[in-house]
Amino acid sequence: MPSTLTVLAAGILVHSGLDLRSWGALAAKLPSTAQIIDQKTFNVLSDVPPPSQANDSTVFLWPGVTEESLTAKPFHVYDDEFYDVIGKSPSLTLIATSDTDPIFHEAVVWYPPTDEVFFVQNAGAPAAGTGLNKSSIIQKISLDDAEAVRTSSNSSEEVTVTTVPSDPQVINPNGGTNYKGQIIFAGEGQGDDVPSALYVMNPVAPYNTTVLLNNYFGRQFNSLNDLVVHPSNGDLYFTDTLYGYLQDFRPYPGLRNQVYRYNFKTGAVTVVADDFTLPNDTGIALGFYGRNLSSPASVYQFDVIKDGTWQNRKTFAYVASFIPDGVHTDSKGRVYAGCGDGVHVWNTSGKLIGKIYTGTTAANFQFAGTGRMIITGQTKLFYVTLAASGVKLA
Ligand SMILES: *[C@@H]1O[C@H](CO)[C@@H](O)[C@H](O)[C@H]1NC(C)=O
Ligand SMILES: *[C@@H]1O[C@H](CO)[C@@H](O)[C@H](O)[C@H]1NC(C)=O
Ligand SMILES: *[C@@H]1O[C@H](CO)[C@@H](O)[C@H](O)[C@H]1NC(C)=O
Ligand SMILES: *[C@@H]1O[C@H](CO)[C@@H](O)[C@H](O)[C@H]1NC(C)=O
Ligand SMILES: *[C@@H]1O[C@H](CO)[C@@H](O)[C@H](O)[C@H]1NC(C)=O
Ligand SMILES: *[C@@H]1O[C@H](CO)[C@@H](O)[C@H](O)[C@H]1NC(C)=O
Ligand SMILES: *[C@@H]1O[C@H](CO)[C@@H](O)[C@H](O)[C@H]1NC(C)=O
Repeated sequence: MPSTLTVLAAGILVHSGLDLRSWGALAAKLPSTAQIIDQKTFNVLSDVPPPSQANDSTVFLWPGVTEESLTAKPFHVYDDEFYDVIGKSPSLTLIATSDTDPIFHEAVVWYPPTDEVFFVQNAGAPAAGTGLNKSSIIQKISLDDAEAVRTSSNSSEEVTVTTVPSDPQVINPNGGTNYKGQIIFAGEGQGDDVPSALYVMNPVAPYNTTVLLNNYFGRQFNSLNDLVVHPSNGDLYFTDTLYGYLQDFRPYPGLRNQVYRYNFKTGAVTVVADDFTLPNDTGIALGFYGRNLSSPASVYQFDVIKDGTWQNRKTFAYVASFIPDGVHTDSKGRVYAGCGDGVHVWNTSGKLIGKIYTGTTAANFQFAGTGRMIITGQTKLFYVTLAASGVKLA
């Protein structure tokens, strides 16, 4: 029987001293929800259309695949290294939908004590009417609910999405991260009079908030976007961009678009990097106004050195499908980004090892501990089970 042969062959390989990695690769069984993608099958195409027809916003289909085949087995294995990420039986489940109003946007944060995941609505999305007239909202779901939907035989079942009444309200939140049992949100601000700010929120009722920072030496931030607490130095790094202005709910930018660092002990705010087209590295999309296909759709890598400053800027990856938005690493240092067709995964050397293919924009995502992930796809919310774990929470 072939399976006996495999086991026997594997045993021989181990005993003859070959490393365990190649043994693992040999023994790896392709999960039923995964498919192997061999890039050589599309490196030479009989017809390669011009940029006006094939670009960041088109779905790339090559001979032998269809949109249906790509979504039917959504775990795309580009490299054997991806088996460690997905494990033996990964799953991708659509757990909630919203019609046109995009309510599943960014700031995906897992709160372990209640096993809930928080996320926010898109600020400035025309269909949502958010931005100037009304703030985008914070919402949450329970992972027990997500698991129940995954295992349910009724495919139209959805999780309950609850609005979180932050108080005072976090205005136009966009980024979020864990901090010592609380959640810090980056609020983009609203009009001329509500400055962009960082808010600390209590993740349980009454969801009270405290503003942590709302100016740079008396000057308003443009529209704070995303943030993360560094696991070893404990500082908060955050990005400021002009999206609030591009989306018509903030004044013309009064500061450079750049990356800042905040020290909780001293309150010091310093700049660690600039010279991005738009940090969150989405220059290609020009906010929402047209496209410049030769601008970055890139992920950059820096070394965070001992004193907390950054050096050795390096272009880590460039994505072909829309823009890399939410960027997170896992416990092994692999890099994940939400892109136009799903979550792309690179090894630490910037090699694409796989995709979690949603067939729609994955605006952001976050691990919920070990083996679970939530992906926000604007009008779709997905729950993923896999083998990888998120980084230890700050
Ligand atoms: C990208 O391709 C689509 C067709 O797939 C086209 O409608 C669009 O105009 C193209 N974008 C640019 C910037 O050329
Ligand atoms: C804000 O409200 C005004 C008045 O109701 C309306 O004309 C405008 O279109 C709204 N703007 C947005 C961005 O929803
Ligand atoms: C399936 O779930 C939907 C949404 O909750 C519900 O309306 C429907 O009645 C359920 N169908 C069955 C057969 O239980
Ligand atoms: C929320 O309120 C409690 C009780 O007053 C307080 O201890 C806590 O610091 C507050 N949290 C935030 C984030 O404001
Ligand atoms: C990144 O940019 C897009 C606009 O292209 C914006 O909607 C989104 O909120 C930004 N998100 C993050 C996390 O950087
Ligand atoms: C597009 O972006 C490139 C590089 O960022 C820049 O040199 C070029 O002028 C831009 N083109 C337009 C039409 O804005
Ligand atoms: C990532 O992939 C590249 C190209 O296959 C390989 O050279 C490198 O060793 C891999 N890095 C890791 C950390 O596995």
